[in-house]
Amino acid sequence: MKTKLGVAYIGSKSRCLSWVYSLFPKNFKCFVDVFAGGGWVSLNFDEKGIIKVLNDKDELITNFFMVLRDNKNELKRRLYYLPYSRSLSNKYKKLVKENKLPDDEIEKAVIWLYAVKTSFSGDLYSGFGVSIDKRRSISLSFKEFIDKSLDKMADCLKNIIIENLDFRDVIKKYDSENTFFYLDPPYKSVHKFRIEFTEKDRKDLIEILKNIKGKFLLNCFEEDFDFREFDKNWIIEKKYFLNFGFLVKNKKKRPKKAYLAVMNYQLLNEIL
Ligand SMILES: C[S@@+](CC[C@H](N)C(=O)[O-])C[C@H]1O[C@@H](n2cnc3c(N)ncnc32)[C@H](O)[C@@H]1O
Repeated sequence: MKTKLGVAYIGSKSRCLSWVYSLFPKNFKCFVDVFAGGGWVSLNFDEKGIIKVLNDKDELITNFFMVLRDNKNELKRRLYYLPYSRSLSNKYKKLVKENKLPDDEIEKAVIWLYAVKTSFSGDLYSGFGVSIDKRRSISLSFKEFIDKSLDKMADCLKNIIIENLDFRDVIKKYDSENTFFYLDPPYKSVHKFRIEFTEKDRKDLIEILKNIKGKFLLNCFEEDFDFREFDKNWIIEKKYFLNFGFLVKNKKKRPKKAYLAVMNYQLLNEIL
């Protein structure tokens, strides 16, 4: 099986990528991952001949992807010799949370990646990531990630435009009839992102989406938006996932929270 590429991050779509891709429209020329986070959706979408844009307002995320694309060897060299250590992880997490980072972009990328990769599920507010699986040493997986995944990610990034913009600006900049926006904004119930996503942001996003020329797919929970504000022609798909990963088909075992995909295009028409 092909290794999926991306950085473990809160709310990452790493475990439901096939569902997300199955909802993509056909025939677009420009793809914009507006809230890219760990980059999973952009990095694993390998359709040829499409302009791809990876955007996030968090400068530490886009700095990491830019350094990986443009200075991979030096980034890998600095990461490789770091010990897999709880105290170093805590120190780096504190620097990231308090935004006390050095000016050197490569060092900033080292600190961000180390902090995220050594946290449980990429959550900077969680504990140190350890494994109880004796067959698989976590420090070895960390080294493997540096050795192998970073190379593959850097290769993909060569064909990706990286933007560090607010969603309003990136949508305005790239909107056209041939553009497809993928939107995975922060959830209302999760306050662990470095950039706060306010009620005004939620309202603005919906208003902007009503007037774009391109297509969009928005992933969210039911509670994240006021449905009465949606355009009545938008299509809504519901799925029940357990811990964001495993699709639950048996109705009785389904968790209460449904995960939504909201689109401004008909999937059936897309297939024909
Ligand atoms: C749920 S995460 C995206 C996860 C991503 N799809 C993945 O698979 O890893 C939401 C992202 O939105 C970013 N964000 C928050 N406010 C933003 C804004 N106003 N404009 C653009 N990005 C923003 C956060 O920094 C965060 O990385």
